[in-house]
Amino acid sequence: MNNDRFLRALRCEPVDCTPVWLMRQAGRYLPEYRATRAQAGSFMALCTNPELACEVTLQPLRRFALDAAILFSDILTIPDAMGLGLHFADGEGPKFRTPVRTAADVARLGVPDPEGELRYVMDAVRTIRRELAGRVPLIGFAGSPWTLACYMVQGEGSSNFALPKAMLWNEPALMHQLLDTVARSVAAYLAAQAAAGAQALMVFDTWGGLLAPAQFTEFSLRYLGQIAGSLKADATTRDIPLILFSKGANGHLPGLAATGCDALGVDWTLDLSSARALVGDRIALQGNLDPAALHAAPEAIRREVARVLASHGPGPGHVFNLGHGITPDVKPEHVAALVDAVHELSRR
Ligand code: CP3
Repeated sequence: MNNDRFLRALRCEPVDCTPVWLMRQAGRYLPEYRATRAQAGSFMALCTNPELACEVTLQPLRRFALDAAILFSDILTIPDAMGLGLHFADGEGPKFRTPVRTAADVARLGVPDPEGELRYVMDAVRTIRRELAGRVPLIGFAGSPWTLACYMVQGEGSSNFALPKAMLWNEPALMHQLLDTVARSVAAYLAAQAAAGAQALMVFDTWGGLLAPAQFTEFSLRYLGQIAGSLKADATTRDIPLILFSKGANGHLPGLAATGCDALGVDWTLDLSSARALVGDRIALQGNLDPAALHAAPEAIRREVARVLASHGPGPGHVFNLGHGITPDVKPEHVAALVDAVHELSRR
């Protein structure tokens, strides 16, 4: 590997400077992404074409000195492979043709074969690894069981996910059955991505923060622990660093650290110094610049980068990232200012 500072930081080993990558680094803020997406015809056509998925994965690496690539795909590939009929209405976000609402709907769900219905994702991983040729490590990913269940039950995006929340109080056993099926699917999917060449794995629990503490422990954390336990019990995935990111759930960092994962994503509402105090020195931290800071002028971005770096301090185990994904209205020059500032200001 030519540049392994991302993997070294995840293992809390010394690095020459702090590694940086950005959630949603491939996406609509890049004109070349919009061109490739237009060529593919739709977002899902882009995801299911390994050559084009590889192309958009590499686009941000051509512009910026990023220390990791992330597989271009989506967390909703698993429910789609379960037969829910994912589609993206223009400008409206994801929707499922057949959401999961009843016991019969849950009973019908099977664990998708990663090299069957999801083979296009594994082919994308293999293609990207080949094209990266060891320049930087490749991150594979999946959604958390709770976050996937939110979309599967609601049938689309939502600000409060009223339907899955009603299900967890009205029919807790049914929600647990759904989460268990999804957790087994996620564990198999991540293990297959690792077998196909992913060198780190990340689980996005985007909607964990919607839950009150007791519900978070019972309906989100428990299944993140099931996935971490499964990956860490298997000799082929044990040494692949696992990053968990529960957005808006900073109070649960100690519980998340106890799952056996290697790193935790942190959103921008908590200082990294406080996060470090909560989890100790064994675990790496990934984050946590407010993505809105990318709208500020390059000099202000540089100051904010310095503040985030200082908040963690020079000790091992920091991967620089945003606290959530880049938004489509960001100027690419501002991303360059961020990436360069991280490397310059953290040089040991
Ligand atoms: O980070 C990367 O560059 C890798 C690719 C990636 C995408 N989605 C591509 C994408 C990753 C890691 C995801 C994860 C994802 N998808 C999450 C968890 C992370 C998060 O942001 O919290 C969630 C909740 C989803 C579900 C999803 N997919 C939504 C809600 C949307 C619509 C949102 C929007 O911005 O329109 C998507 C579509 C999607 N996934 C896009 C991209 C680049 C935009 C699609 C387009 O080109 O129009």
